[in-house]
Order: sequence, then structure tokens, then C-alpha cells
Amino acid sequence: MGKYKRHLITAALPYANGPIHIGHLAGVYVPADIYTRYLRLRGEEVIWVCGSDEHGVPITIKARNEGVTPQAVVDRYHEIIKRSFAEFGMSFDIYSRTTSPTHAQTASEFFRTLYDKGEFIENTSKQYFDPEAGIFLADRYVTGTCPKCGAPGAYGDQCEKCGSSLAATELIDPKSAVTGATPILRDTLHWYLPLDKHEEFLRQWILEDHKEWKTNVYGQCKSWLDAGLQPRAVSRDLDWGISVPIEGAEGKVLYVWFDAPIGYISATRELLPDDWETWWKDPQTRMIHFIGKDNIVFHCIMFPAMLRAHGRNADGESGYATTALGDFILPDNVPANEFLNLEGDKISTSRNHAVWLNEYLEDFPGKQDVLRYVLCANAPETKDNDFTWRDFQARANNELVAVLGNFVNRSLVLTTKYYEGRVPAVGELTDYDRETLAELASLRTAVEDNIENFRFREALKDVMGVARLGNKYLADTEPWKVVKTDPVRVETIMNIALQITANLAIACEPFMPFTADKITRMLGIERPKWDTLGHKDILPAGHVIGTPELLFERIEDADIEKQIEKLKK
Ligand code: MF3
Ligand code: ZN
Repeated sequence: MGKYKRHLITAALPYANGPIHIGHLAGVYVPADIYTRYLRLRGEEVIWVCGSDEHGVPITIKARNEGVTPQAVVDRYHEIIKRSFAEFGMSFDIYSRTTSPTHAQTASEFFRTLYDKGEFIENTSKQYFDPEAGIFLADRYVTGTCPKCGAPGAYGDQCEKCGSSLAATELIDPKSAVTGATPILRDTLHWYLPLDKHEEFLRQWILEDHKEWKTNVYGQCKSWLDAGLQPRAVSRDLDWGISVPIEGAEGKVLYVWFDAPIGYISATRELLPDDWETWWKDPQTRMIHFIGKDNIVFHCIMFPAMLRAHGRNADGESGYATTALGDFILPDNVPANEFLNLEGDKISTSRNHAVWLNEYLEDFPGKQDVLRYVLCANAPETKDNDFTWRDFQARANNELVAVLGNFVNRSLVLTTKYYEGRVPAVGELTDYDRETLAELASLRTAVEDNIENFRFREALKDVMGVARLGNKYLADTEPWKVVKTDPVRVETIMNIALQITANLAIACEPFMPFTADKITRMLGIERPKWDTLGHKDILPAGHVIGTPELLFERIEDADIEKQIEKLKK
């Protein structure tokens, strides 16, 4: 794949303050998993790193509300999240967490390097302090009325109603989220990353050198850059997080958005203790960040500025590199998705308006691929999209059951019936056979082109196109009728139908890995190589297939109604 030797895939580290819902899966993890599985199938050298984001204010608030420690909160959710990901087939090479000792070391060293190089500004400012609790109130500990839209309950960093990013001091009628007291302003010292000094570089790097980024990503970067970048605080007054590793910084921790992206580095280091630097510092590594749209500024502006500051001075002079390999690499692409809504309304943890993965699996055991399919087919790739249970049911029944499942089942059942499972030999081809096989052969470039350009919905359509092709082929050739008059012809028909089925075992793998395994098993073969996709001779004549089973079951109205009721509660 071009000038690169290896691919480092990252997916946003989910906050360990709640389980994972369908919005997470659709926006970040399903696309990242498809992409990573695809690269592996292509024989590329690739690792995919992820883990739980276990610091930050929301976790401390949750702990305080529940009367437990923040560590207890993250321990609980880290396990739940990790299990959900495994159950849905997320093929991480490592799923780590930011409370790991390796991460504390990596993030501290990173901060310390920037500090020693003079990459930070120290600044004393006035921040809200809760006089009753005796603590400074970081970001989300202050709530009040949004100065932009007038909505109540805006947070000290952001209004969730209008999406504006805010400073706590801008809130009208501020209140402490800890005690409800009116906070007072007090002086506090913090370290800031002067993003403004990196602005010129970032403009060139994103706006000139990465015009190929998705328009939603490029557009957001452009508006941030056009508005002008400001120094951004990288520390907080908080007792949960990684301590600022310098003297006189007691009671201060690294800002969660400083430490979390370094989590990608720490996870790589845990996975490959002796080799992680190759993955982060060799320009032949291609790094791709899969994220949701609310993370764009951090991955396209803040983290790149940090990485660059680590190896270079903000004025562009090369600083000291930490290894012979040189500076950290920057991402080659950041294919962020928009948001998934649920039944016409924003997914919300606090209102419990969500479909949680752990609950989905209780209600739909074994149906991981159905959800993966629907979330990919309906992914918010270019705009916000809506998940509805009716659409879920329609896609499951009309597409997975009626098209994919039906085709695979018919080709396997007929083979069992006519030939006791033995793949018949192909005879003379008709023009129609040739057309069908030509269409099958054209599939590979279409799927590859779409996946490589992060158009996973289109790629999935191409895959379903193969099943449609197979269904149409059987409907048009009618082997169940022809078998009575021309059994030799049916051998060719069934050979072609089985070759199309074998193609599906390959093409489904990035999208629906459980289904791909099942088809492969029913065909009684090892998984065919990706390179044979589009071929008409994957199954040798005489090979005996396994026992056919149904690939998908219908989703009944009652199943869906139950889910809709559940959301209303
Ligand atoms: N925890 C953040 C969120 O869920 C994402 C962190 S991504 C990382 O929005 F780069 F910081 F790791
Ligand atoms: Zn607002």
C-alpha cells in the first residue's frame, strides 16, 4: 500500500464511566475493525491499539455520586467495555487502559520532555474554587446557564445543547456540581501548550497536505484554524489522574486530553516493549486514527502539536530526537464519523436513551453480526444518521435473511440434496454464466477501493451485491427445475453457485466475521485467501462440503416492540 511498510490503527479510547452503546460501535469501532481486518487479509503489517480512557472529571463525579473511589468505577467499566468489544469481534491487538503503570510512565516522560524543552507556557489564572468542598472545580464540575444559547445545565467546558465550547467563567449563574455552592475565583498555576505557535505548521500540514481527508474532518479543522488557535491548558487541579511530574505541582494532574492520546503510545509499548518506537517514529509507518466527530480537534490539532513539540521546537527547528529514528510520526488520516441518533433523538447516557451492547446481547444472543451489519450499512459516515429498531428489523429480514442467508442456504442445501455434498465439476459455460462470473470478478477492486477510502457503507453494498448476484443466478437458472431434464447442466450451475458462496466467505470477513466463519465452516474449507476474491475456482470439484445450517434468523415484530417499549421507559 504505497510508500508505507506498516499500519498503526488507533480507535478512540472510550471513557470508562459507562458501558459501550451502538453509537460508539457505529462511529468508531466497527469501521476501525473492518479496516484493520481488511489490512490483515491483504497481508499488510498492521497493529490496532485501543484501551479505556480512565481519567477525567466525569469519572470522579460518578465516583462521588456513588460513594466509591474513581478506581472502583474504572475497574468496573473497563471490564464491561472490554468484554463487549470481545463479544462483538473487535480484533484489537491490545486493549489496554490509562491507569496502567506503563501509561503513567509514558505520559509523565512525554510531559517532562516538553517541559524540559520549554514547550509549555506557565500561567496563573483565576479558576472556580468550591469554598464548601475546598477544591478547585475543573471543567465539568461547574454548571450554569449557557451564555451562547441560554440553555440551563451547561458544563464548564461545553454546552451540550448548542455544542459551543465554553470556559467555566463564561457560565451565567455558575454552581458547583459537587456541593451546589456558588464557586469563587481563585488563582491557580497551570501549564499550557501554545497551539498558536504550531498554527502555521498545522495549516500547511492539514489544509495543504491533507486535502484528501474526509470533508467533515477537513472542514472542522479549517474552521478551528481560521478562528486562530489559543494556548491550551494541559494540567488540572484534581486528585484523579497522572500527577504533573515536576516539583511544586502538588494537587495537579495532567489534563485528560493530554494523557489519553498518549495512551495509544503506551498501549503500543505494552504490546511491543522492544519495538514500539518503530511503530511511532519510522516515517514508513502509516498511522490512522478512527474517532467520532467530537474528537476531531484533539486528534487533528492538539495531539499532532504535542507529537511535533516532542521532537521539534515550535519554531520549526528540529529539537532533540529521543531515538535514532527521529521524531514521532503524525497521522496520515483521521476518518472521523458523525453521530448516530436513536429513534430520532440524540443518544444520551444520562437519560438512558441508548442501546447498550451488553443488553443487546442479552436480548439477541449470537446476533453480533446483525448489529455490525446494520450499523455499517447505516453508518454516519458523512452526516448524522438515525438508528431505528424498524430499520434494524427490515435490514435483518430483507437483506441478511432474504438475500445473504437465503442464497447461501439454497446453494448448500441443493448441493447436499443433489450430490451428497460433493462439489460438482463445471462443464460448458453459457453466455449468462460468463456474464455472472465476470460480474463476480469485478467485485474485488470495488470493495478494495471503497474500504481503502473509508467508504464502508459502499463496500458493504458491494459485498451484498455478490449475494444478490448469487440469488439472481439461481432464480434465473432454476436448477430445481432443470435437474429433471438436464442434470449435467445443473452440475455447472451448482458449481458456480458454490463458487459465489465461497467468495462470500472471504468478502464478509471484515464486516461480519462470525458469519464469514460460519460460511467457511459450512463449506468445509479453510478460509480462502483474500487474493482469491472474485475467482471462479476456489472450491475444487469433488470437495465435500459440511452440513448446511441457517445463517440468520428472522427478527420478529415482538422482539422489536420490546426494544421500542424499553426506550420509552
Ligand atoms: N475518551 C474520549 C471520548 O470518549 C476519547 C479519547 S481518545 C484519545 O470522547 F485519543 F484520547 F485516546
Ligand atoms: Zn448553549
